[in-house]
Amino acid sequence: MTDALLLETRDDTTAAWWRQAAVYQIYPRSFADANGDGLGDIPGIVSRADYLQELGIDAVWLSPFYPSALADGGYDVADYRDVDPRLGTLDDFDDMVAALHDRGIRVVVDIVPNHSSDLHEWFQEALAAGRGSAARERYIFREGSGPDGSEPPTDWTAAFGGSAWERVEDGQWFLHSFAPEQPDLNWDHPEVREDFLTTLRFWSDRGVDGFRIDVAHMLTKDLSEPLPSTAELELLPHDGNHPLHDRDDVHEVYAEWRRVFNEYDPPRTAVAEAWVSTPERRAKYASAEGLGQAFNFDLLVADFDATQFRTIISDNLAQARTTGSSTTWVLSNHDVTRHATRYGLAPLAGRTGVKQGVEWVAAGGPGDQLDRELGLRRAHAATLLLLGLPGSTYLYQGEELGLQEVAEIGPDERQDPAFFRGAEFDGLGRDGCRVPLPWTASGSSFGFGAGDAHLPQPEWFAEHAVDVEESDPSSTLSLYREALRLRRELQTDESLEWIETGRADVLRFARPNGWQIVTNFGTEPFDLGTDAADVVLGTVVDGAVSGDSTVWIAPGLLG
Ligand code: NOJ
Repeated sequence: MTDALLLETRDDTTAAWWRQAAVYQIYPRSFADANGDGLGDIPGIVSRADYLQELGIDAVWLSPFYPSALADGGYDVADYRDVDPRLGTLDDFDDMVAALHDRGIRVVVDIVPNHSSDLHEWFQEALAAGRGSAARERYIFREGSGPDGSEPPTDWTAAFGGSAWERVEDGQWFLHSFAPEQPDLNWDHPEVREDFLTTLRFWSDRGVDGFRIDVAHMLTKDLSEPLPSTAELELLPHDGNHPLHDRDDVHEVYAEWRRVFNEYDPPRTAVAEAWVSTPERRAKYASAEGLGQAFNFDLLVADFDATQFRTIISDNLAQARTTGSSTTWVLSNHDVTRHATRYGLAPLAGRTGVKQGVEWVAAGGPGDQLDRELGLRRAHAATLLLLGLPGSTYLYQGEELGLQEVAEIGPDERQDPAFFRGAEFDGLGRDGCRVPLPWTASGSSFGFGAGDAHLPQPEWFAEHAVDVEESDPSSTLSLYREALRLRRELQTDESLEWIETGRADVLRFARPNGWQIVTNFGTEPFDLGTDAADVVLGTVVDGAVSGDSTVWIAPGLLG
């Protein structure tokens, strides 16, 4: 098969490709629209394969592109082994994998195992088959409470707000940890387990290199009666025996998955999206007998602050060493306010990181609450710091253009269930970071496609369009390209040594080959002395690193 041949001819074909990869997240419906229907699609990704190559990333991670009613942006999967017809076909998918592999870019796809769509054939079968049927066993159906069963079985709330139970016509209730269109699967059921192994092989056989596992910590549940109330759940420790979250027995599932991943050469990789209580709990997902890597979201909730960054970096590198995995770095993704916006907001009392951004979105920004220039400067500084760290870095589409969160989306234009169902964490929801990308400063939907984009793009997208930034050496895109190119040249062993700077607001570290990164989180310039002559990335003014910026120093390291 062509993909296998292409993989063999690539010079970086090692089982460890993922350990220090720069992975670019594509939100397919908002990346590029080849057929002009307003939704990004797989041929759109193919049409931008050269762009991805020029960016210099090692892999792409595709958010779900499967058939879906889009009740949750595609995280409601109706068929795990097909492509949404609005996004293309399986043949298009194969073409995309070939086009990316041809350019040395690996492909990671999203697996959503906690819940299916209510349109999945299993759920439709469960509805039709009625209470007590074998078909209902694949999901979590219960009788209601109250004298006539008309109340939900428990008072549990769903992540997007409202009850976590939905009633069906014959009076039973089913559990949905997210939207009602996302019924939770029953991971005690052998068919459910078996079917996901089939799905993992299906995509691996098509040349997919790795998987991102959605809410990896929620699959297995102890639902023995009587079910606890929310108040009772809150008193329980997260020690591996919690009835709903981060149970030790979920790792039996991932041990089975690992055996499937290791059937392939190189073994398929996986990264867990696991929101768990401690670094030690997270480490279990990253073990070599399990998924192998886990997202570290600590920087998403941190401020642009030297002390917080240093602690998070040290802790996560130490934690990764305990499992033999490498850590991951994330500043933005499709679920959170873009970091260029978070960093441009004045600190709000009691609010940090994502929460602070959410408050701005909820207030309908931008007004005078957001200093876009400051946010972007800090975003550059933080990204350059991340790209200098050991471990893999996940970049989210649009951040390479310096995009800010889009606040200008009317209530009737929004799509995110978190907005409609009033989930507290998400404020106005996550649509503001999912607006289709601007490729050209003019033309329909800024070059995204021939029609209107499925979410409204603001006028200010024009100045961030790819065709504008490409020709501007001082643009964010030029900076990302240069950083990713240099990172490949400078990449070295997975460790770092902190160098004391005598300033609480300046971080400096060296990698084993002498590559150094200096980030000034403060406002006073930081003098580099004679090292200023060896700066290869970032701006030096009068021999110093300005406030809110990062430089890379590489004495004699570049050919
Ligand atoms: C996490 C995903 O990142 C998010 O977008 C989705 O809404 C939930 N999981 C539910 O699948």
